[in-house]
Amino acid sequence: MTKIKCVIAAGGLGTRLQGFRQNDKTKILIEVNGTPMINRQIHQIAKWGIEEFIIITNPDFDEIIREVTSKEFPDLNINYSIQESPKGISHAFSKAEKFVNKDDILILVLGDNFFGENPLLDVDFSKLEKNKGSIIFTKDVDNPNEFGVAEVDKNGKVLDIQEKPNNPKSNLAVVGIYIFDHLAIDNINLLKPSKRGEYEITDLINIYINQDKCSNIELSSWWIDAGTPERILDLETRLL
Ligand code: G1P
Repeated sequence: MTKIKCVIAAGGLGTRLQGFRQNDKTKILIEVNGTPMINRQIHQIAKWGIEEFIIITNPDFDEIIREVTSKEFPDLNINYSIQESPKGISHAFSKAEKFVNKDDILILVLGDNFFGENPLLDVDFSKLEKNKGSIIFTKDVDNPNEFGVAEVDKNGKVLDIQEKPNNPKSNLAVVGIYIFDHLAIDNINLLKPSKRGEYEITDLINIYINQDKCSNIELSSWWIDAGTPERILDLETRLL
């Protein structure tokens, strides 16, 4: 039976947020309008109708993340898995393996990404269940070189994705929510580390693009990757 499971990547320490609001732990525990970011994230995704969660944590903060989340969500189905070393988003994603069954649909959300509207509203899950593949979400931005960037043709077909390119081929930033079939976990084993030594999420998506199995949904409402102090402040005003 197909199940939709949400993997939250919450292992990153957030070097750009060390010291912000006395943060000496991990960015995912920083309070956003008084609520730890990880709990805001789970509230956001639960509101979209998702019922099963797998949180990928950092070994130093696994215990406290479990404590903070299980206290706030005693009735939710949440599993946890540790990413022992920071080797990239695809590597973090692979740590969900023990909770993934054949035919599951996996939604990967980066813990610090927040959205004005539910991005899943336009997803045809029954089509995905039948055809398999992946879906990326993009947003037109002025600073694409700070993100993964998608090149999309006139018909909306994704041609290529590049991680933080110096010369972006478009203004379409790939935002931190992705949908994959269960084969993603096997596909990650085919990846090689990038120049910065990480298993990149963009390389995983390129496997699907090369098989003609990746489609794009462009977001029209706001999106924030809350990885810097300025962006957290911006997020707080939008959540008011
Ligand atoms: C990550 C991904 C990037 C994506 C971004 C979205 O970058 O590597 O492809 O566009 O998240 O938030 P990071 O913010 O971890 O540098």
